[in-house]
Amino acid sequence: MDTARHDDATPGPDEGWPEEIELAPLHPADRDRPDDAAREGERLQKVLARAGVGSRRVVENMVDQGRISVNGRTVTVQGMRVDPERDRIAVDGVRIELRDDRVTYALNKPAGVITAMSDDRNRPTVGDMVGDLAPGLVHVGRLDQDTEGLLLVTNDGELAHRLAHPSYEVRKTYLAQVSGSVPRDMARRLRAGVGLEDGPVKVDSFKVVDTHAGQSVVEVVLHEGRKHIVRRLLAHVGLPVSRLTRTAIGPVKLERMRSGSIRRLTRAEVGALKEAVGL
Ligand code: URA
Repeated sequence: MDTARHDDATPGPDEGWPEEIELAPLHPADRDRPDDAAREGERLQKVLARAGVGSRRVVENMVDQGRISVNGRTVTVQGMRVDPERDRIAVDGVRIELRDDRVTYALNKPAGVITAMSDDRNRPTVGDMVGDLAPGLVHVGRLDQDTEGLLLVTNDGELAHRLAHPSYEVRKTYLAQVSGSVPRDMARRLRAGVGLEDGPVKVDSFKVVDTHAGQSVVEVVLHEGRKHIVRRLLAHVGLPVSRLTRTAIGPVKLERMRSGSIRRLTRAEVGALKEAVGL
């Protein structure tokens, strides 16, 4: 006896599925299962040992001392599992970058080098300075050809984008050598804002560092990224710039880096930069 019933909803042996039939959603148990490491994360002490914070034993002691936090909460138990790509882990309040697939370098760009990874006119570039340190490096924002100092290069696209974008308001610090002496009310004037041809600009801080033989060295902090902004601003208030050096970008400082040198940022520096731009 033929027991198969061919009603409207059930296709016959050679008919395939009628188009209007919807397949039932996949049962959760039938979905691809993530591998164990991704699902459960890695042990905190292993991740931090790999990041160079200290041996596993040292990290366990730090946990006992309440020195480690994950996503803002102090870790109180040993053996916690974390996701190094997503969790924000801090030691003594300092965020530590845990990803190994991203690198960020600080350069002390000399005057004369252009901020580009290559140049069809064969001028010296930042790209020549970094060579093949890592694939996919981009420079974070720009310095004028004549400006020296701190420039970051990274293969972390989102970090580069956020650091360069004015909406994240990352402060940049510059030392400028200017002609003439600086009027006493200059800091107040620059903090209040000055009108340039492409719109007003305000500084976050301004101070005179040194004055000698008709020249002054001033420190300017601002979170603007417009072209030639420091030179234009200071020229506008009667202080033409003869030398300009960027000395800090947010929490990262140039300090004693020699002109033309490069160093990889520490995990704490990358962590602090990410924190500054909400990553
Ligand atoms: N402001 C300038 O005028 N030049 C730079 O390179 C950076 C900021």
